[in-house]
Amino acid sequence: MARVYALSNRMKHAKPSFVREILKVAVRPDIISFAGGLPAPELFDVDGVRAATAETLEHNSTGALQYGPTDGVAAFKQQIVGVMARRGMADIALERILVTTGSQQGIDLIAKVMLDPGDVVLVERPAYLAAVQVFELYEAQLRGVECDADGMNTDALEAQIADLRARGERAKFIYTVATFGNPSGATLSLERRQKLLEIAAREEILLIEDDPYSELRFSGDSLPPVASFAGERESPWVVYMSTLSKFVAPGLRLGWMILPEGLVGPLTIAKQAADLHSSTFNQHVAAKYLETGRLEAALPRIREVYGRKAQAMMNALHAHFPTGTLEFNAPSGGMFLWGKMADGVDTLALVQRAVDAGVIYVPGATFFPDERRANYLRLSFATPSLEQIEEGVGRLARAVLD
Ligand SMILES: Cc1ncc(COP(=O)(O)O)c(C=O)c1O
Repeated sequence: MARVYALSNRMKHAKPSFVREILKVAVRPDIISFAGGLPAPELFDVDGVRAATAETLEHNSTGALQYGPTDGVAAFKQQIVGVMARRGMADIALERILVTTGSQQGIDLIAKVMLDPGDVVLVERPAYLAAVQVFELYEAQLRGVECDADGMNTDALEAQIADLRARGERAKFIYTVATFGNPSGATLSLERRQKLLEIAAREEILLIEDDPYSELRFSGDSLPPVASFAGERESPWVVYMSTLSKFVAPGLRLGWMILPEGLVGPLTIAKQAADLHSSTFNQHVAAKYLETGRLEAALPRIREVYGRKAQAMMNALHAHFPTGTLEFNAPSGGMFLWGKMADGVDTLALVQRAVDAGVIYVPGATFFPDERRANYLRLSFATPSLEQIEEGVGRLARAVLD
């Protein structure tokens, strides 16, 4: 007999992640998946991780197998300081770093610490689905801010803030994936980075920069994180988060937040309550791995492979989709192409036909939290091989263009 449990109010409307549901289909061997943002498995540095694991067990087994500090293992935090320096943020104080169990936990913790039911969160339109899922679980009201190829439109953001003010409301925070957005692939321009910070500081609204993809740039000049432009006035309003998932391995489940001083305490308490600390074993292994310098050697290949896959997908789309049937912006990095089909096309309704044809994508409607737009789709080029990309785009065209 099915039982009805007295779930919390917050769980009553919770939906499973559409992407994770789709990924269940994607494991079928006959399906070519453009759905998940999974790193290319051929890029995992298995030898490097094996050596770092052996070293850790040989020389630091107690540290790795014992409980550890909530904020993270010092040796791993030191390595994060190095990663951040390379990204243009030098001398980050260790006390401002909170190691998380993937950046997904960072999203959850900031929501837990900041949000009461009904609070407003401003997100990109389209927005990262699993962040939307978290904010909705904390019963936030989501408002989308229009995006284009240069990322979040800061004029539209100001308009949203003004509109809220007119209703006597204000947003608790702005959440952005400013570099190689998920799903948009868009990157916030330099001018908008500065503008976004200026707005956050002026309006005293926290800006959450989620940056999982910036290492994966395969064309154009690199743009430092939004957080790197924050001066004394802006810094208290910026939370930065990143992860090893997309350029080392998601299985490690290691991410980090860089917090303004006043948020370190609350976030650490929330983290303690959630899981005491992230895996000490994985932090020690990751620290050892990063120490060896193997990553710097591996990164050029990682970028090159994703660049080739992105190009292969764009070429195949040009070849298989007649002009006017599918538009997309060419990304300079990351894992995604964001496609727009003609008005009136419903990509959600077409998923089953795509699955029947042996290919899967994520319908765009799922990425719009506050309105319905049916004619978009997200295609990831990261996981399939070049041959699968060509074959999969052919299948996609046959399925959705009939
Ligand atoms: C924008 C964004 N944020 C966070 C995550 C979660 O990554 P992690 O594996 O670090 O939890 C992802 C993963 O796809 C992502 O695309």
